[in-house]
Amino acid sequence: MGLRPAGLADLGFLTEMLYQSIFVPPGEPPPARTILDEPRIAHCLHEWGRIGDFALVAECGERLAGAAWLRFMPSDHPGFGYVAEDVPEIGIALEPWARGQVVGTRLLAGLGAHARSAGIRALSLSVDPRNPAPRLYQRLGWTKVGAVDGSWTMLKHL
Ligand SMILES: CC(C)(COP(=O)(O)OP(=O)(O)OC[C@H]1O[C@@H](n2cnc3c(N)ncnc32)[C@H](O)[C@@H]1OP(=O)(O)O)[C@@H](O)C(=O)NCCC(=O)NCCS
Repeated sequence: MGLRPAGLADLGFLTEMLYQSIFVPPGEPPPARTILDEPRIAHCLHEWGRIGDFALVAECGERLAGAAWLRFMPSDHPGFGYVAEDVPEIGIALEPWARGQVVGTRLLAGLGAHARSAGIRALSLSVDPRNPAPRLYQRLGWTKVGAVDGSWTMLKHL
């Protein structure tokens, strides 16, 4: 499994990973893909390629396995995991077949390395506490700093 920076041609895959990142409680059907058009969701990748936007894609040969991205959000139009204008929010998801094989850990390390080299002081995210993912985030040094509509806001100092 290799990691590479995403290009503009990867936007379709990033959008699919944004969809995959939406938590589906056990026993519930996945949301319709039109959820991607809802403004607060679409906002995560809208006009992707702005200054500061950065994403990594994980691939196994030619098969795309997952992605993680970071984006600065303005205070008057924040994302779900907003903390501050100088703290980018991240998103991450893998295709179902690629989960549980340390790829997410590697993507998070790669995002962190990029952010450190760009002089970024911290990263934030939003996660549903019913998702197993907070265990991973906590292992990697993320801490819960708030809650919005039942979702945890988590922060990682770099
Ligand atoms: C969350 C995710 C990116 C982690 O990547 P990964 O490669 O599966 O994780 P790793 O193998 O590096 O680490 C394992 C940890 O990932 C999390 N994890 C594993 N499978 C998962 C799954 N199907 N869904 C959510 N989290 C999962 C758990 O925290 C696990 O730790 P645990 O073994 O103590 O339970 C990936 O599982 C995924 O895409 N999940 C679905 C989308 C999602 O929940 N995105 C995050 C939204 S905030």
